[in-house]
Amino acid sequence: MGIIAPSLLAADFTEIGKAVRRVEESGADWIHLDVMDGCFVPEITFGSQMISAVRGITSLPLDVHLMTVNPASRLDSFLQAGTDRFTFHIEAEVHAHHLLNTIRKSGMKAGISIVPSTPISAIEEVLDIADQVLVMTVNPGWGGQHLISSTLKKVRELWNLRESGLGDYLICMDGGFSTETAPDVWEAGADVAVMGTAFFGSHNCAELLKKCRPAVN
Ligand code: DX5
Ligand code: ZN
Repeated sequence: MGIIAPSLLAADFTEIGKAVRRVEESGADWIHLDVMDGCFVPEITFGSQMISAVRGITSLPLDVHLMTVNPASRLDSFLQAGTDRFTFHIEAEVHAHHLLNTIRKSGMKAGISIVPSTPISAIEEVLDIADQVLVMTVNPGWGGQHLISSTLKKVRELWNLRESGLGDYLICMDGGFSTETAPDVWEAGADVAVMGTAFFGSHNCAELLKKCRPAVN
């Protein structure tokens, strides 16, 4: 697979349109939008208005990562705004099984995410109804952090569980992806890598992506 999803969190917020064009011109696959509410994580970023603004200028899949409390309350507005993939945190939702089904019924892809301290066992009961699992390889809330290498064993565990027939989800990682960490990320079994700081800090994103893709696709 080797899907790469640049995160707008690392973009210049005064030039989001330019950032979206950079993503498109680089050959990246998805756009990752980090929604932070100042409760689940300390920072506040943006909400449905940003999603619909980006929707209006690109046809790339919008991969929305909700670092928010009460994610179910955002479903309708984010759907209306043009979200393709709606990923919430298991730590923020007691009724994860119900929410995953509701997201799917809405027509969006349903994703579930775990912070570094949450084990795979916390989501094992819902893997069969998830379209993607987002393994946080940094503590959520900020870009530009170093990948926590111990989290990659959870990527491998998800790969093994999928091989054993437990679900048909994409395995995604989020945080600290770069040319240095890419080989370990793909080796662990990830299908999708979110890339913020390394992407928007690059002078040649297309070249960077070529270096970061898996050796054999
Ligand atoms: C962090 C976000 C990540 C972040 C990744 O809470 O969920 O998507 O933007 O950025 P880098 O690639 O800079 O770690
Ligand atoms: Zn994210």
